[in-house]
Amino acid sequence: HAEGNARAGKDKATSCNSCHGDNGNSVAPNFPKLAQQHASYLVKQLQAFKSGVRNDPMMSAMALPLSDEDMADIGAFYAAQKISANSMPVLPPPDEDEEEPAAGTAVKPKSVPELIAQGSDLYRNGDLQREVSACIACHGPFGEGNLPAAFPALHSQHPDYLIKALTDFKTGARGNTPENMMHMIAKKMTDEEIRAVAYAISMM
Ligand code: HEM
Ligand code: HEM
Repeated sequence: HAEGNARAGKDKATSCNSCHGDNGNSVAPNFPKLAQQHASYLVKQLQAFKSGVRNDPMMSAMALPLSDEDMADIGAFYAAQKISANSMPVLPPPDEDEEEPAAGTAVKPKSVPELIAQGSDLYRNGDLQREVSACIACHGPFGEGNLPAAFPALHSQHPDYLIKALTDFKTGARGNTPENMMHMIAKKMTDEEIRAVAYAISMM
């Protein structure tokens, strides 16, 4: 059952809409968008939720009754959907982080545009000295990911969800990465870098 049936997947995904939005365009920032995501990656995550390798109180319950065929159909359905302009990611206002530095500290918190610039640089170039691999190598120049390798598309994803995903890799709360690739990378990232790269990716 390599190829799923997108038409059958649409019916099987009805119960997912309440969280993931119509056609996988979620609006709430903590529910990931599934539209335009690679079927291979979606199936891999559903299997991970079902087996318990990846844990989420809501998703583990949703994935449990799904058969391999259901997962393939649902994956084919969401992969064929387009990201809608109605669910574009929302960033904090540009100056939200620009507070006066606390007395005695010289460091001014970065503004949102500064974080986006920092995040795009990290995405494209990584940080050789600290052995943070460039995200572009696996997730592509436009955040499009890689279908045969099941590397997820990241573009237009909600920044809150991206921050949670990276933090969960960093702490080990999220499993299911072959060779611990994302774990190794996220462990070397600071919380500020995670926020920066999440803002940059969401704008891709
Ligand atoms: C994550 C599919 C129903 C809440 C995911 C992911 C997939 C998925 C593939 C992983 C996305 C990624 O890694 O980018 C589905 C399907 C559903 C369903 C096929 C229906 C059968 C629901 C419902 C809820 C929900 C009803 C809310 C009650 C979430 C949350 C996450 C998630 C919160 C993120 C989990 C985390 O942070 O690790 N879902 N979903 N899903 N889903 Fe669902
Ligand atoms: C998953 C970000 C570098 C391979 C993810 C996810 C995020 C992310 C946010 C979760 C997506 C989701 O839940 O929908 C990043 C960033 C990187 C980076 C910010 C650079 C700092 C890399 C590199 C590789 C890679 C270099 C390959 C060598 C993967 C794979 C997954 C993944 C295989 C899926 C893991 C799973 O199945 O749970 N990445 N990534 N990433 N990334 Fe990366």
